[in-house]
Amino acid sequence: MREEAIGAAILAWYDANARQLPWRVPPGSGRRADPYRVWLSEIMLQQTTVAAVKAYFERFTALWPTVADLAAADDADVMGEWAGLGYYARARNLLKCARVVVAEHGGAFPRTEAELLTLPGIGPYTAAAIASIAFDQPAPVMDGNIERVMARLFAVEEPLPGCKPILKGHATRLTPETRPGDHAQALMDLGATICTPKSPACGICPLIAACAARKAGIAADLPKKAPKKTKPVRLGYIYLARRNDGAMLLETRPDKGLLGGMLGFPTSDWSDVPSEAPPFEAEWHDPELEVRHTFTHFHLRLAIRLADTQPDLVPERGEFVPKPHFNPSSLPTLMRKAFDLAEGAWRHD
Ligand code: ADE
Repeated sequence: MREEAIGAAILAWYDANARQLPWRVPPGSGRRADPYRVWLSEIMLQQTTVAAVKAYFERFTALWPTVADLAAADDADVMGEWAGLGYYARARNLLKCARVVVAEHGGAFPRTEAELLTLPGIGPYTAAAIASIAFDQPAPVMDGNIERVMARLFAVEEPLPGCKPILKGHATRLTPETRPGDHAQALMDLGATICTPKSPACGICPLIAACAARKAGIAADLPKKAPKKTKPVRLGYIYLARRNDGAMLLETRPDKGLLGGMLGFPTSDWSDVPSEAPPFEAEWHDPELEVRHTFTHFHLRLAIRLADTQPDLVPERGEFVPKPHFNPSSLPTLMRKAFDLAEGAWRHD
């Protein structure tokens, strides 16, 4: 199959099989996708599955239907709604980006990849996705799904990540001048539903006749991956203080660093040899429990420390949040896990 024939087969398959997603305009509807909704969905979909993103996307767009609404939102409200999606730098950049779009671009997203790249939190993947899906520009979009489809279609046997430029070259040649956004989304859907990492469903693939890996019998073995480095473990302490009226001690984490800008229970530093750093002097109880959480570059284990306090206590760090305002579901997952463990320990006291 020639490139044009492959492109046509991809679009024909998409016209019949596109997934219905809340940020998407169905093929053939003649409507353009709203750049704000495309941007928001693409930021949420980085490192997060479609299934997990759907409810967050619906809630964000109900609360903040336009980029101007989001730009005017309170930081704490946005961070709270983001809780549970992880990678919180995305949420901080989301707000920064919305405010730059309003302040410097009159509330309209710029249309070219180059201009989009200048905005906070928008890297090469997101710039290409917005340019193609919202503005119909033939920018090749490279995500994990599309890399896998390219590696198989052209039987690229060099391992990731080294082969990325080769895969991008193939994707660039395939990207059509017309309907590049549908082409990109078709490849994403193909990768998510047919050309899956394990046991690809080659029997129903629209590209079966063109696929070099299928011909060589190696589709399921591609893409190859360079061996992963093992993640180091970091240690620390996390302090859960409960006042006798039910208020809980929380502190906003510094903007820089992991979980930056998020509300959580005070912790020590996270390192090989952490030092205890309680938010106030007390007899901290050791329930012999540890909260574990894995970040991109390391595993974290925090030893839990508990304290029960009186209403007149003034902590050195953080603030007591009264019981009616304390909402564990607006905390990052690590903090929620710590709260669940502490609650279990308190219940057994
Ligand atoms: N993953 C990332 N972006 C996506 C999109 N626009 N559609 C489906 N899956 C995606």
